[in-house]
Amino acid sequence: MRLLLIGAPGAGKGTQAVRIAEHFGLKHLSSGDLLRAHVRNETAIGRSIKSFVDAGDLVPDAIVMDMLRKPVVQASAEGGYILDGFPRTVDQAHSAYLVARELQVQVQIAVHLKVGQDELIRRLTARGRGAEDGPEIVKHRLEVYASKTVPLLGYYLERERLVSIDGSQSPDKVGDDLIEALTEARDRLHLDAANA
Ligand code: AP5
Ligand code: MG
Repeated sequence: MRLLLIGAPGAGKGTQAVRIAEHFGLKHLSSGDLLRAHVRNETAIGRSIKSFVDAGDLVPDAIVMDMLRKPVVQASAEGGYILDGFPRTVDQAHSAYLVARELQVQVQIAVHLKVGQDELIRRLTARGRGAEDGPEIVKHRLEVYASKTVPLLGYYLERERLVSIDGSQSPDKVGDDLIEALTEARDRLHLDAANA
């Protein structure tokens, strides 16, 4: 199964992606975690993106796309993937779709984790992951999400592939809801394939 998770900063994408990956035997690919690893290891990519991540701005599309291409193709051959944090814009989604379709590894289901603004701010400022979790940067990350990423929901809704889950509940309840919705969606996908 090939999935992606859309949610605001602090919505619980990382928390839930780990559970989904384990339950369905998928590879968890977090663009943010991969980018942060580059910064930590001071790679050439890391040096070129540190200022974007620290400021809460999006890293240039080409860097993210190049970084994910190989792991996505590899995971697709090994049972599937759950992408967490990618795509972040309609442009990224469209470019990724064109590449992925060519390679037969395109996403099958998009999941939206919905959480209210106050709860997001509470979670993020409580975590303190460094510069990117400072109060002003958190505010900026939420603005970037609203302006650049929210339009993605319409993009996937139009393609009838969007599952929405209430992410403000306890982590266990969110996980249970996700697994139930994704099991249904997976079964429907198999039916569609059988009827094609
Ligand atoms: P990224 O790492 O994707 O950060 P983000 O979207 O800001 O989200 P977070 O990872 O902070 O939150 P999350 O939704 O994973 O929540 P989590 O499970 O941690 O991106 C970081 C940066 O990288 C970006 O700003 C950008 O610069 C760059 N980047 C990444 N992808 C990119 C792309 N595609 N294009 C361009 N640039 C890109 O949970 C948050 C906290 O809440 C935790 O403390 C957790 O324990 C707690 N929590 C989780 N669930 C619950 C719950 N149900 N109840 C209570 N607490 C909970
Ligand atoms: Mg995360």
